[in-house]
Amino acid sequence: MTDTPDQPLPAGSHHPAPEGVTVVDHPLVQHKLTLMREHDTSTASFRQLLREISLLLAYEVTRTLPMTTKRIATPIQEMDAPTIEGKKLALISILRAGNGLMDGILDLVPAARVGFVGLYRDPATLEPVQYYFKVPGRMEDRICIVVDPMLATGNSSAAAVDLLKEAGARDIRFLCLLAAPEGIARMRAAHPDVAIVTAAIDSHLNGHGYIVPGLGDAGDRMFGTK
Ligand code: URA
Repeated sequence: MTDTPDQPLPAGSHHPAPEGVTVVDHPLVQHKLTLMREHDTSTASFRQLLREISLLLAYEVTRTLPMTTKRIATPIQEMDAPTIEGKKLALISILRAGNGLMDGILDLVPAARVGFVGLYRDPATLEPVQYYFKVPGRMEDRICIVVDPMLATGNSSAAAVDLLKEAGARDIRFLCLLAAPEGIARMRAAHPDVAIVTAAIDSHLNGHGYIVPGLGDAGDRMFGTK
C-alpha cells in the first residue's frame, strides 16, 4: 500500500480488467460515478446516484442468468417467449454499505430473496469477524449476487463468500461500484469461481485501506455519518 499521490489521476479504470472481472464502462455509469466521487456531492445526491447506478450494474451482473422459454398467447398468436429460468436469486448485502447498492437492484428484481452478512475487523488480528449472518434457505439452488460498493482489501468480501459457500451457495457473483487491484487479487485467489462486476478498477489502496482515487467511505457518504 502506498500513500495518496499529489497529482490528479487520469479518468477511467487504472488497470485492465483481469479474467473474471467485468468493468461496466457505459457512459451513464461512468458519468454517475464521477458525480459520486466528487467531494461536495450531498448525501441525498449520493444516495440517489447509488440507486440509479445500481440498476445499471444489476443489468450487467444479471446478463448471464440462465434463460428458458414459456408458451404464452399474445393477442395475435401463441409463441414460445424467453423468460428467466426458475432458479431463484438471492441478493446478499455485506453490511452496512451493501444495503445502498441492494435497494436499486431490488427495484429491478423485486422477487429476489435477501440476505445479510455483517463482519467487522478485529483490531488485534485485522481479520474479519462475523457478527451477523442471515441468508435465505436452499442456498444451493440459488444464484447469489453479493453486493458491497467498495472492494478494497477484499478480506471481508472473501470472508463473506466463505460463509455463503459454507451455507451451501455454489453460484456466486460479486457486484461492487469500485474495486482496488489488491481486492480483486484477493478475491480471485480465494474464489476464482466468483465473477466480479464493477464500475471501475482504481489505482491502489492508501495506507489507511482507502481506495485511491476512490470516493471516500461509502457507508459514511450514503448514510451521512462521520
Ligand atoms: N471502504 C470504503 O467505504 N471506502 C474505501 O475506500 C475502502 C473501503
